[in-house]
Amino acid sequence: MKAALSQRGRIPFFYKKSDKEFQLDPYERYESMVSRQSALHLADGLWDSYPMQAVLDFAAPFYPSSQVAHILEIGCGVGRWIATLAQTFPKADCWGIDYSYQMLKRAREFWVDQTDIHIDLSSKGFSNILNIKGHRLKNLNFGLAKASALPFNYESQDLIINSFLLDRLDDPARGLAEMYRVLRPKGKLILITPLNFSKAAHWKAYYPPIKLFQLLGQIGFEVLDWQEEILINEPLDFHGNSVRWKCIGFAAQRKD
Ligand SMILES: C[S@@+](CC[C@H](N)C(=O)[O-])C[C@H]1O[C@@H](n2cnc3c(N)ncnc32)[C@H](O)[C@@H]1O
Repeated sequence: MKAALSQRGRIPFFYKKSDKEFQLDPYERYESMVSRQSALHLADGLWDSYPMQAVLDFAAPFYPSSQVAHILEIGCGVGRWIATLAQTFPKADCWGIDYSYQMLKRAREFWVDQTDIHIDLSSKGFSNILNIKGHRLKNLNFGLAKASALPFNYESQDLIINSFLLDRLDDPARGLAEMYRVLRPKGKLILITPLNFSKAAHWKAYYPPIKLFQLLGQIGFEVLDWQEEILINEPLDFHGNSVRWKCIGFAAQRKD
């Protein structure tokens, strides 16, 4: 693994993020993004069940059947999925990589430093502030990097996961190629995305989803499973309003 360029708080930086990049990054906004992601991923009690459970259910059949050494999530946000894997694979060195320092700070505090968090959704109609106990996962690390330049060696990862990331990338094809680079031969990639691109050029390049399927083959992945209608409701408030995401999900294996 590459050495960090710097450190902020307890988060190693593998990319030198400029002040301007901080300002422009919507995921650095605490109120709109970190608190929303925390409510979505860390406060199951608010919603009766974990709203993103469909992601975990889709992925579980493709997890390795025995202990592995290296697991990586890219675009990990507040860290729920990679923390789940760190608990399932206690011998694995697990990394959550994200481009947002604020997301990583929350993830590290909650999953590694055992800091309790308080979620106040009174503006969404919930009357109680939820206090949630933090964890101390010793095999889990978080670091700041871009998906296009992962700080990991060639063929070093056994499993790579990511959700709701691909359509956020400046260059999705490059992101996939970088995942291929760091995955070991026969290593697996499990990815879920709503294909909610913000650039017309990306819609053209990756839609309909068969284009993404073909790209995976060109990069060197063998697709093991491919689903185009994974429905996920992102809850918004106490009244039950939600955003409905229609996601594609696939599990793929690096050929060699
Ligand atoms: C929509 S959120 C998804 C978070 C979480 N994976 C989920 O499923 O809810 C997208 C995440 O990807 C991160 N992200 C965006 N661009 C990135 C990039 N180029 N490299 C790494 N992470 C990135 C954001 O900071 C944010 O945490």
